[in-house]
Amino acid sequence: MSTLTDSAKEKLTRLLANNGLLVIRQCDLSPDQLIAFSRIFGEVVAYTRSSFSLPSHPDILILSNIEANGKTIGSPVSGRVWHLDGHYLEKIPACTVLNMKTLQRAGGDTWFANMQLAYDQLTPEIKEKISELKVVISRVQSRPYNYPDRGEATPEERAAWPDVTHPVVLEHPETGKKALAVGSNVPWKIVGQDKYSATALITFLQEWVRRERFTYRHVWREGDLLIWDNRVVMHKASPYQGARMLYRTTTF
Ligand SMILES: [Fe+2]
Repeated sequence: MSTLTDSAKEKLTRLLANNGLLVIRQCDLSPDQLIAFSRIFGEVVAYTRSSFSLPSHPDILILSNIEANGKTIGSPVSGRVWHLDGHYLEKIPACTVLNMKTLQRAGGDTWFANMQLAYDQLTPEIKEKISELKVVISRVQSRPYNYPDRGEATPEERAAWPDVTHPVVLEHPETGKKALAVGSNVPWKIVGQDKYSATALITFLQEWVRRERFTYRHVWREGDLLIWDNRVVMHKASPYQGARMLYRTTTF
């Protein structure tokens, strides 16, 4: 990565801001290279549990079903519903970088939905209706959606994970473009509305954003390097068979 010039880095960040997702084939990076590459897009911060971090590089999260000493070396099941990474944090992560190290035998595609395109194509009436809406997102309640293989949040986690509030229409801090930020991984609650009156609108928006015309299905190859802007696209993982391992970094 040291060979990338400043203008190449600038081009990459511009491409990412305009498109939301970059796919680079045949780019198997070492841990040091992956971190250096990720820093092009922001400060690298690991915000999820450390037991699945790469021991030599704690900023890299391992996504894997491969076992060693009776337990998986990484997180084997995650993100199987539409979501923005870290949507439950006060500050939503800027970018996620994934590098495919060991390709599964079958399944395992990752789906992406362009939240900006989805917003742009809403009617003016709906845009108006949702322009000021805010949702409450609970990391505690989203646990079974994000990580169905893990237990409920512990008392310590509950204490450390306060609910957060985010706008339904997410404005990108750099481009100013608006995105329809409604994933499916939390029991949504609209600020100022009761659960029942908000359900119809939220269900419509969730189904709208994942319409085929806004989505891309990524079929992985070994060595694939994917970078996405978490404020532009949301994503969803699929079940897979066979050994699989990816490295993930997150930037803020
Ligand atoms: Fe994710």
